[in-house]
Amino acid sequence: MAAVRVLVFNAEEEYTATLRSTLLSFEGVKIVAEVDEPALMAQALTQFPAEVLVANLDPMPEAILPMLEEVAQTNRGVEVFAVSNSTDGQLILAAMRHGIREFLTKPIDDEVLGSALGKVAVRHSDDAKQGTLITVIGGAGGVGATTIAVNLAVELKALTQGNVTVVDLDHRFGQVATHLDVDPTYTMADLCESTTQLEQQMIDRALVKHHSGVNVLSRPNQFMQADNITAAHCVGVLSALMASNDYVVVDGPTRFDFGTKAVLDISDFNMLVLQLVVPTVRSVHRMLEGMTEVGFNLDRMKLVCNRVGGESGGITTEDVRDTLNMDVFGEVPDDWNSVNAAINIGEPLSVSSAKSKVRQSIRGMALRVHDPTGKGYEEVKETKKGGILSKIF
Ligand SMILES: Nc1ncnc2c1ncn2[C@@H]1O[C@H](COP(=O)(O)OP(=O)(O)O)[C@@H](O)[C@H]1O
Ligand SMILES: [Mg+2]
Repeated sequence: MAAVRVLVFNAEEEYTATLRSTLLSFEGVKIVAEVDEPALMAQALTQFPAEVLVANLDPMPEAILPMLEEVAQTNRGVEVFAVSNSTDGQLILAAMRHGIREFLTKPIDDEVLGSALGKVAVRHSDDAKQGTLITVIGGAGGVGATTIAVNLAVELKALTQGNVTVVDLDHRFGQVATHLDVDPTYTMADLCESTTQLEQQMIDRALVKHHSGVNVLSRPNQFMQADNITAAHCVGVLSALMASNDYVVVDGPTRFDFGTKAVLDISDFNMLVLQLVVPTVRSVHRMLEGMTEVGFNLDRMKLVCNRVGGESGGITTEDVRDTLNMDVFGEVPDDWNSVNAAINIGEPLSVSSAKSKVRQSIRGMALRVHDPTGKGYEEVKETKKGGILSKIF
């Protein structure tokens, strides 16, 4: 299914995780924003492009319905799905009269929702294609997230010749510009000054073209500018970039906070980078648990073990796979010389150490990202069920 961007209205806190996990279980669904105040729906729709508004009517369907009608009328391009416990025929009829496209009764039937979303995707199939958004986050600081994000973007560009942009969302300490030795005049900060939809011209001005062909959107030049960047800004910038790129690679936020969740929700998939050390594996375990609790779909999370084969102190990739009970999407070898030479001269690995194994492994991941059914994909090992947590915990 093509990407379907969903804005969620839900004022029932205890239903949040269920609604999120139901929606995110469908491939292609991206949650662009979640609002809990009916009055915010209209504003959110002007800020975040979406194909569907999914609104939980409970606990006060009669009050919410008229508001939804207004939103539906002023946003003709957005299809409204209502969700409720109620099976009251009168209410359903009223909803249809209020311009609601689908009425979903709780618990939401997967088939009904899947078919409704599928129809949305078909109805919007002529809309401009959205690029793929890949967010790279570290299971801890210093695990190599930036190295992998930057080089993945460069490899995707070389492989596809499409439009590729790498975005630094480490607003304070980000090093994407340093890794690629570019010197931005305008940055993320300049794109976060207003709450309206961004103009292409502003985005173009903030992107620096690297000689590899990759565009770079850097973190703010001034430390304090980071304070002004909100989760909503990040989603707005990334949505705009997806419209004009084939791939957008995000060097993700370094803290797992509200902003991170928002970015992960609109990503096609996420790479979670870790090193083979107990504290990092534990942190990743906690992260995955927390994400599951808030209804995140772990199928969209790819584990990448970095610095494999170095002095690992006895932990192997298999241990990680068993402990976390998840596939390992990629293994990047430990190669201090190649990686640090590349960072210090400000060149991607494809330039400074083209033949190195570390470069080849990142290239392999880019291949699998671009062509998941291709040959490279066979290297990904099968999930082993029934991980033994006791090994590390
Ligand atoms: N595969 C690797 N082999 C050796 N050193 C690496 C590797 N990946 C990253 N490093 C080193 O680890 C340090 C942190 O990398 P970085 O990409 O900045 O991590 P993060 O963005 O997660 O903080 C850098 O000094 C880098 O040289
Ligand atoms: Mg980093």
